[in-house]
Amino acid sequence: MNTLDVVHDFLRRQVKPGAFCIDATAGKGRDTALLCRLAGTEGRVLAFDVQQDAIDQTRALLKAEGLQAEVVLDSHANMAQYAAPESVDCIVFNFGRLPGGDPKIFTTAASSLPAIDAGLALLRPGGVMALAIYYGKGNGYDEKNAILAHLKSLNDRMFTVLACDWLNRKHDPPLPIFIWKE
Ligand SMILES: C[S@@+](CC[C@H](N)C(=O)[O-])C[C@H]1O[C@@H](n2cnc3c(N)ncnc32)[C@H](O)[C@@H]1O
Repeated sequence: MNTLDVVHDFLRRQVKPGAFCIDATAGKGRDTALLCRLAGTEGRVLAFDVQQDAIDQTRALLKAEGLQAEVVLDSHANMAQYAAPESVDCIVFNFGRLPGGDPKIFTTAASSLPAIDAGLALLRPGGVMALAIYYGKGNGYDEKNAILAHLKSLNDRMFTVLACDWLNRKHDPPLPIFIWKE
């Protein structure tokens, strides 16, 4: 069991056919592909990444699996330009860097916090957000600490935030976090 398993179990439970979903960090496309399968042909999936390599890998995975999504080369901080407020059922963030990609490109609090806020505004009431926070090693702790502090400050009448931790695992495993919008 790891963070990807936990997040994907959550997505399988939450995302229904016809859903509008956003993958805020497309990477190798694994989350995008799952969202496409869950939302089905009646649904819509938007995926963002700032790295052309990730866009190419995501498009290739979707093609190989016969799935369709709008895969956009842009920062997730700009996601409000692509969807109407309170129209999205589910948003996924998988922070960190692209495995095997350019090590100089990784998510940072400077764009992650505005992107989370943009995503929360796009969620419809009853919509959900799943986040996997990578930290330690090359990423350091700044982004993790900034995200956790920011999520703690969200209005509890508008959002429910569940942050999970792997208490007996070593080497800073990523943290799964789930948000429900009232
Ligand atoms: C850990 S990977 C994502 C893994 C992916 N969800 C998957 O299923 O393979 C993190 C990705 O975030 C991307 N990224 C970094 N900054 C970003 C930003 N501001 N907007 C969108 N994507 C960003 C990186 O290029 C990288 O591909």
